[in-house]
Amino acid sequence: MLRLETLSCGYGDMRAVHGLDLELVEGGTTALLGANGAGKSSTIMSVAGHVQVHEGKVLYRGEDITRATPMARVKKGIAVVPEGRRLFSSLTVRENLVVGGYSLPKPKSDAGIDRVMTLFPRLKERLDQRAGSLSGGEQQMLSIGRALMSEPALLMVDELSLGLMPKMIDACYQAVAELKRGGLTILLVEQSTHRALEVADQVCVLESGRSVWKGSAHEARNDTEIIDALLGLQAGPKA
Ligand SMILES: Nc1ncnc2c1ncn2[C@@H]1O[C@H](COP(=O)(O)OP(=O)(O)O)[C@@H](O)[C@H]1O
Ligand SMILES: [Mg+2]
Repeated sequence: MLRLETLSCGYGDMRAVHGLDLELVEGGTTALLGANGAGKSSTIMSVAGHVQVHEGKVLYRGEDITRATPMARVKKGIAVVPEGRRLFSSLTVRENLVVGGYSLPKPKSDAGIDRVMTLFPRLKERLDQRAGSLSGGEQQMLSIGRALMSEPALLMVDELSLGLMPKMIDACYQAVAELKRGGLTILLVEQSTHRALEVADQVCVLESGRSVWKGSAHEARNDTEIIDALLGLQAGPKA
């Protein structure tokens, strides 16, 4: 479904990702793990078209989209839930969702909002509340909901659990599991390895912009010491 071929991307002369190869199969869930600054966000933002690709290719369903505009990628079915959520805080929940599906005719937009309400019932009673007044977890739900409004085939979520209360993390992961059951292809960026491994099929660990471990989530679960060491977590901070 998505193939990154020796992808290098970054900001001006600065390279955030070096020669990354990654393949996502249709309907699969892939966890992209790594410590802070490893290049996770840069990777997904280059797939979304927001970060400059220096070398290599982004192939989506066999088509080279390396130079496609962000909007063209949304139309092809690629959606991103950005780190920090980036909602329109002075707009209501409903308005944020409408913006997410702005190109849809009204009936489709309404149906999309209904689907988001089914996935996140908490948002239903808050539809006319301003996004800025929601809790962090509710904002994350709304950010996922907004991304779903464009009816994506590939959903990329950056730092799903970061800064959220455990109960909200559970709710967000339940939603991801449900989307996965529905056949959506998912790329999950996480610093919380253990949560990501519960839902992922495939795992890629980045370190300093390079892929340092790839395998199935099953292998990763049986090899958590290695993963943790790679992430510099349980192994303690690196000097
Ligand atoms: N807007 C930016 N301008 C310049 N450098 C950036 C920018 N965003 C990220 N970087 C750098 O790119 C590298 C990878 O960052 P990032 O992709 O955000 O990592 P992660 O998401 O894994 O924490 C880091 O060295 C970071 O400082
Ligand atoms: Mg990041």
